[in-house]
Amino acid sequence: MHLLTSHHLSWIIFSTVATCKGFPTLACNLLSSVLSTSVLLPESEAYNASITSYPFLNLRLHPTCIVRPKTAQDVSTAVNLLRGTECTKFAIRGGGHNANAGFNNVEDGVTIDMQSINAVEVGKGVARVGAGALWQDVYDAVEPHNLTVLGGRIGAVGVAGFLTGGGISFFSPERGWACDAVLNFEIVLASGEIVNANATSRPDLFAALKGGQNNFGVVTRFDLKTFPHGPIWGGKIGFAPEADAALNSAYTKFKMEKYDPYAAGWITHRYNGSTKTFAPSSTLWYTRPELKPGALGLMTGVGPRVMNGMQTAYAGEMTRNYSRIVRAVPRRTIWATTTFHISPTILHRIHAVWKEIVPKVCETYAYASPAAELTFQSLPPPPRNQSHPNSFGFAPSEAPERDLVFLQVVFIFMDASATTGFENALKEFIKMFEDLTEEEGVRHKYLYLNFAAKFQDPLAGYGEERMERLRKVARKYDPNGVFQKQVVGGFKLF
Ligand SMILES: *[C@@H]1O[C@H](CO)[C@@H](O)[C@H](O)[C@H]1NC(C)=O
Ligand SMILES: *[C@@H]1O[C@H](CO)[C@@H](O)[C@H](O)[C@H]1NC(C)=O
Ligand SMILES: *[C@@H]1O[C@H](CO)[C@@H](O)[C@H](O)[C@H]1NC(C)=O
Ligand SMILES: *[C@@H]1O[C@H](CO)[C@@H](O)[C@H](O)[C@H]1NC(C)=O
Ligand SMILES: *[C@@H]1O[C@H](CO)[C@@H](O)[C@H](O)[C@H]1NC(C)=O
Ligand SMILES: *[C@@H]1O[C@H](CO)[C@@H](O)[C@H](O)[C@H]1NC(C)=O
Repeated sequence: MHLLTSHHLSWIIFSTVATCKGFPTLACNLLSSVLSTSVLLPESEAYNASITSYPFLNLRLHPTCIVRPKTAQDVSTAVNLLRGTECTKFAIRGGGHNANAGFNNVEDGVTIDMQSINAVEVGKGVARVGAGALWQDVYDAVEPHNLTVLGGRIGAVGVAGFLTGGGISFFSPERGWACDAVLNFEIVLASGEIVNANATSRPDLFAALKGGQNNFGVVTRFDLKTFPHGPIWGGKIGFAPEADAALNSAYTKFKMEKYDPYAAGWITHRYNGSTKTFAPSSTLWYTRPELKPGALGLMTGVGPRVMNGMQTAYAGEMTRNYSRIVRAVPRRTIWATTTFHISPTILHRIHAVWKEIVPKVCETYAYASPAAELTFQSLPPPPRNQSHPNSFGFAPSEAPERDLVFLQVVFIFMDASATTGFENALKEFIKMFEDLTEEEGVRHKYLYLNFAAKFQDPLAGYGEERMERLRKVARKYDPNGVFQKQVVGGFKLF
C-alpha cells in the first residue's frame, strides 16, 4: 500500500488551496492511494450498484467517488483525509432511506457508504450492529436466539439514520425510543479518533447522538440492548374509501382513551393520482398476541374493509414483507412532518384539508404518475429517569406518548421535473396543517427528525436548551466544524 505522509498531503493541499475546484477529485485520488479497494469510481459496476441501492430515485446523486470502508479504521482514515482536503464536501450513508436528497449522498463530493460494515454480533444482552446494517440484518441475526431489539418496522430502513434520529419500534409504546436502548455508540470523531460514547464514557456525546443525526462524527457500531420475545400480532388492513372518517374517529378515540402499551402502528390515507382513488388503511401491531386486539380493536373493527393482513408472526417476517412493497418499484419520494396534541376534531380537520387539495395537486402533475399519503402515529415515551437522557427535549414527567400525534405527509412520483411542484405542495400542506393546529391551540413544536423535510428545523423543535447542549457537544468533539461545514447534508447545528 502506498502511504502518503502528512507532509505530502499538506503540500498538495497548500498548492491547490486557492480554489476549491478540483478538491473532490484530489480527495478521491488520495483516498484511492490509501484505501484502494474501497474507493469506487463512476465507471465501475460497484459504484453503480451503490447508487442503485438507494430505495428512492431522488437520492441517487452521483458523487465524485464513493468510499466503502470495511472497518472503523478505514472510516478513520477517510475522515482524516477528508478533513485534510478542507473544501471537499462529504456525505455519510447508512441505509440511505432518509428521503431528503443530499442527506445521505452528495454531488461533487465524496460519499462514505457504510454498507460493508454491516455485521451483527449477538452477545449477552447486547447485539453489536455495524452502522451500515439494515434492520432486516438485525432481526435475522437476533430472532434465531428468540431475542429482539427496538428496531425499525420496515426491514429496508438503515440502522444508523433511524437511531440517530430517534427510532420508533413495535415495542416503543411500552419501551420507549429505539435510541434509548442503545448501550454504546462506537464513533469516529472529526480528529479521526475511534471512541465509545455511552452512559459512563462521554455521556454528553451519548445523549447528543440520540437525536443529533450526523453532527458529531461517523458512528461505526451501535450496541443495542436485546430482550427475549416471540411472535407479535399485526399487519395492514385496507378499508373502503368511505371508511376514512370512521378510521380517523377510531384513532382519535384510541389516543384519547386508556393508554395501551402493547398497541403500536399508524393509520394512512393514500391517494392514487392515476386511478384518482382514496385508500385508507391501518398498519398496526400488538406485541402481546395472547391479549389481542387490546386497544387496536378500535381500528381493526372499522369497516367496510377490503383487505385484512393481520397475522401472528415474528417481527422480522413482517419487516421483510414490508420491505418488499417499499422496494418493488423505486420512485421519487419526499415527505414532511408536524406534531400536535390530540383533540376530538383535529385529525378530521387535517384530513379534510388534505382530501380536498391532494387530488388537485396530483392532477397538476399527473404526468409524473403521483400518489400521496397522510399518516398519523404516536410518539414513544421519553426515558422516565434523568440518568440516560436523549435530545428530544421531553421531560421525564411529560407524556407525549399519550397526548401527541405526529403526521407524515408524503408525495411519491416518477418524473424529476415535478420535484419542485411537489416540494412546494409539501410546504403548503405543512403550513395549512400548522395553521389549523395553531388555531385549535394544539400545535406542538417537536418535529420527528427522520420524517422532517429539508425546509423544516427539527433540531430547533427540541427546544433552545437541548439545542445549546448539542452545540456545546459539537464544539467539544468537532472544534473545527468538519461535520457542520464539510458534511453539508442533514440538519445542522450552526
Ligand atoms: C452504470 O449505469 C449507467 C446507467 O444505468 C449505465 O449507462 C452504465 O453502463 C453502468 N455502468 C456500469 C459499469 O455498470
Ligand atoms: C425459541 O423458541 C422456540 C419456541 O418456544 C423454541 O422451540 C426454540 O428452541 C427456541 N430457540 C432458542 C435458540 O432458544
Ligand atoms: C463505555 O466506554 C468505555 C470507554 O471506551 C468502555 O470501556 C466501556 O466498555 C463502554 N461501556 C459500554 C456499555 O459499552
Ligand atoms: C409474508 O409474505 C409471505 C409470502 O408472500 C406470506 O406467505 C406470509 O404470510 C407473509 N407474512 C406476513 C407476516 O405478512
Ligand atoms: C395507482 O394505481 C395503479 C392501478 O392500480 C397502479 O398500477 C399504480 O402503481 C398506482 N400508483 C402508485 C404510485 O401507487
Ligand atoms: C434509566 O433509564 C434508562 C433508559 O431507559 C435505563 O437503561 C436505566 O436502567 C434507568 N435507570 C434507573 C436508575 O432506573
